[in-house]
Parts: sequence; C-alpha cells; structure tokens
Amino acid sequence: SSNGSKEKEKTLAMIKPDGLLGNYTERIKLVILEYEFSILKETTTQLDQDRASSFYTEHSSKSFFPSLIKYMTSGPVLVMVLEKENAIADWRTLIGPTDSSRAKVTHPNSIRAMCGVDSEKNCVHGSDSLQSAQREISFFFEEISSDSCNGKHFMASK
Ligand code: PPS
Repeated sequence: SSNGSKEKEKTLAMIKPDGLLGNYTERIKLVILEYEFSILKETTTQLDQDRASSFYTEHSSKSFFPSLIKYMTSGPVLVMVLEKENAIADWRTLIGPTDSSRAKVTHPNSIRAMCGVDSEKNCVHGSDSLQSAQREISFFFEEISSDSCNGKHFMASK
C-alpha cells in the first residue's frame, strides 16, 4: 500500500483424512506457527458426497474425480483459515507439490513429503489463488451466517 505497510492475506488450509488419521495435526500446526501464520478459524468436519463434489467442482471432469471424492469423504478433515502477508503462495510453497511421492524426492522438507503418500493421499490442501481462497473460506466458514440462510431456517422450522 502507499504507506509501505504490508497487507495481510487469508488462505484456506485443510488437513485431509490421511493427515488426521496419521496424527499429523500437531506437527503441521508447529510448521504453521513456525512460519508465523495466524490461525484465525478452524473446524473439523466430515464431508459428504455433495459437499466434497461442490468443493472440488473445478475438477469434476478429471478421471481421478470419483476416487478423489471417495477419499475426501472417507473421514473427517480439519479446515483452517490462515493469515499472514503472502499467505496463499507461502502456504502452497510449504505444502509442496501435489504428488507426495514426488515431493519426498524434490521437496523433502515440505508438508506433503512429511505426511502424504501420493497425488490423492497428499495430506493437505491449500487455496491456489485469491479467488479460490475467498470461495473456499466462504465454503466452510460463512455458510450459515447470511440472512437468507437464517430466513430459510426460520421458514423450514415453522
Ligand atoms: S490438476 O489436474 O493439475 O488441476 O490437478 P492438481 O492441481 O494437481 O490436483 C487437484 C486436486 O486433485 C487431487 N488429485 C488427485 N486425486 C486423486 N487421484 C489423483 N490421481 C489425483 N491427482 C490430483 C489433488 O490432490 C488436488 O487436491 P487439492 O486438495 O486441491 O490439493
């Protein structure tokens, strides 16, 4: 900005089912804090078929999509809103490449190298752009806060 201060940025981070199952949450959070992200919000949730398909809608035509949805609904996930300067790109760098088996070779200090297995069981997610971050944060954290949802709930309970 014009006065030289750096703008903070928010991103959505997710620990996927294999990360939670493998008890990697504490180790991942240590990395998050070491790199000076603030954890603004967090929640654990179980995705169902519809919600997982909606979250990954941009990949719905990919051959791996059915397998990805089956995997992402196989157990709970932990989602967090992380904040710092350059949060989106920095979190993507920290998690490493999509394929954990490749990450173990090319980015051995990355989170996906630490706790993932392959391109599907890759332990963590990070938003890939500002637009994705806004969509994904709203997806998990702002769904029931709008007036229309409150109205719908009110109508539905009559
Ligand atoms: S792509 O095709 O380049 O857009 O895909 P990519 O960005 O690498 O991955 C998008 C998400 O799909 C998951 N993925 C897979 N799941 C199952 N099987 C295979 N083969 C596979 N390849 C990619 C990958 O983990 C990405 O998930 P997120 O949560 O976005 O990291």
